[in-house]
Amino acid sequence: MIKISPSILSCDFSRLEEEAKAVLDAGAEYLHMDVMDGMFVPNMSFGFPIIASLRNKTDAVFDVHLMIEKPERYVERFIKAGADIITIHTEACACVKEVLETIRAARKKAAVCVNPKTPIEYTYPYLDLCDMVLVMTVQAGYGGQALIPYTLNKVRQLKEERERRGLSFEIEVDGGINEETAAAAIEAGADVMVAGSAVFGKKDYKQAINVLKNA
Ligand code: DX5
Ligand code: ZN
Repeated sequence: MIKISPSILSCDFSRLEEEAKAVLDAGAEYLHMDVMDGMFVPNMSFGFPIIASLRNKTDAVFDVHLMIEKPERYVERFIKAGADIITIHTEACACVKEVLETIRAARKKAAVCVNPKTPIEYTYPYLDLCDMVLVMTVQAGYGGQALIPYTLNKVRQLKEERERRGLSFEIEVDGGINEETAAAAIEAGADVMVAGSAVFGKKDYKQAINVLKNA
């Protein structure tokens, strides 16, 4: 069964606890947290205090997507803040292997991510160390963009590589997932779909999540 990881980037931050609990009650498996530094991506979002304060309110799986340059500088602080899954971009880091090892040594789940134009092969040297691989289906930086269709070929290719190597990491897709695109993402091989506007932009979160799961 496909998992849904609603991106709190699209929630009402003045009611963060309520919004998080509402999507979890509505059937979300993870909570996706988009951390942006204004350098790796041309946008800023939130960091440690928001994650740590929400950590005190829920046992949910925090799926933390670091869109930051040199994530090795901060990964330990994200672990301390309460991240369960930490995703770093291959494009932003010159020591991916070491960072993944640090995450796993803390008994957290490690993931790598590639933007649409980065070949999926760039994740291959790290697959043994990954609990998840995130395939961006839009250019990282903003919620509410349209899914780029060719990115789903990368999902297919990654799934084949996983089978070939007998590995078991989850494949996550992020960006532009909605009732029109979800079926294609599932068909391509996604195990987890991030959804921001397609969940928080709807009145009924349960219905929104069910629509994606049953696409
Ligand atoms: C984009 C972020 C996404 C984004 C998804 O940089 O990584 O997680 O919030 O938003 P939607 O689902 O609205 O495309
Ligand atoms: Zn994300």
